[in-house]
Amino acid sequence: MKNIALITGATGGLGQEFVKLHAQRKGDLVLVAREQEALNKLKEKVEKEYSVEAYTIAVDLSQADAAERIYNELKEKDIVIEYLLNNAGFGGQGDFFTRTMEQDMSMIAVNVVTLTKLTKLFLPDMIKRGSGRVLNTSSTAAMMPGPRQAVYYATKAFVTSMGNSIWQELKGTGITLTTLMPGAMSTGFAKAGGLQNTPLFAHPVEPAAVAKAGYEGMLKGKLNVVSGLTFVQRIFMSMAPLLPKKMMLKQVYDMQTIKK
Ligand SMILES: NC(=O)c1ccc[n+]([C@@H]2O[C@H](COP(=O)([O-])OP(=O)(O)OC[C@H]3O[C@@H](n4cnc5c(N)ncnc54)[C@H](OP(=O)(O)O)[C@@H]3O)[C@@H](O)[C@H]2O)c1
Repeated sequence: MKNIALITGATGGLGQEFVKLHAQRKGDLVLVAREQEALNKLKEKVEKEYSVEAYTIAVDLSQADAAERIYNELKEKDIVIEYLLNNAGFGGQGDFFTRTMEQDMSMIAVNVVTLTKLTKLFLPDMIKRGSGRVLNTSSTAAMMPGPRQAVYYATKAFVTSMGNSIWQELKGTGITLTTLMPGAMSTGFAKAGGLQNTPLFAHPVEPAAVAKAGYEGMLKGKLNVVSGLTFVQRIFMSMAPLLPKKMMLKQVYDMQTIKK
């Protein structure tokens, strides 16, 4: 295998677009998600369509040792990761005090803990080799608090903050870490998080253009890529910092409230 990208959440809406983009450039792939069957299908499709090689790892990224297991398995097989795309993640609608401990702790585990561990495990190897790129998928949710998705917005604020710091620290190493911040997209995300009937997901955008902007941004070593905002979101995002905080919180709360 050569020119290998490790993509978490590879079977999801945004992940599959990343897979396509990398395969189009004749790069091999390590595909990570929980469902082995979906991974097998994707592997078969991509190998047939693009004549590249794909290796699958079915793992629940909310497990405490998930990152180490991925890293060790790839080390054992001498699979060298040139591109790390930390893309897996999920949200979840509801007031903080009504959501279960398990729902929010597993979200923190996938969106924050395992993403951080994978970045921490693979970056030193990239630095040693003098080549490599990281793309961490955050969200425009990183830019404000998110009543009715309190923990999700906080996880994405973490991803952007840590990523931006690392981008600066990597100066001079030849390695870069780019943070992608998409708006609302039509993927499996809204259904998985119970957000389908909220105003935020009234007009989601297709993930293909967002993935392209993120992937190309990663190749260029950009700091942040913000992509896929609907017209309403664009207006809201530009006005949000100017709004009184309490008004902004109410706006986000309403946008994430399920319509009766
Ligand atoms: N869609 C949006 O509106 C939106 C907006 C901003 C940011 N984002 C971010 O974009 C990223 C990609 O999401 P998406 O929109 O493509 O959602 P998606 O279609 O639901 O895909 C999620 C992917 O992550 C995998 N996954 C979920 N939980 C996992 C776990 N515990 N362990 C391993 N894999 C897991 C899923 O596969 P399995 O279920 O088989 O594990 C799937 O491949 C996420 O980080 C999300 O926060 C999405």
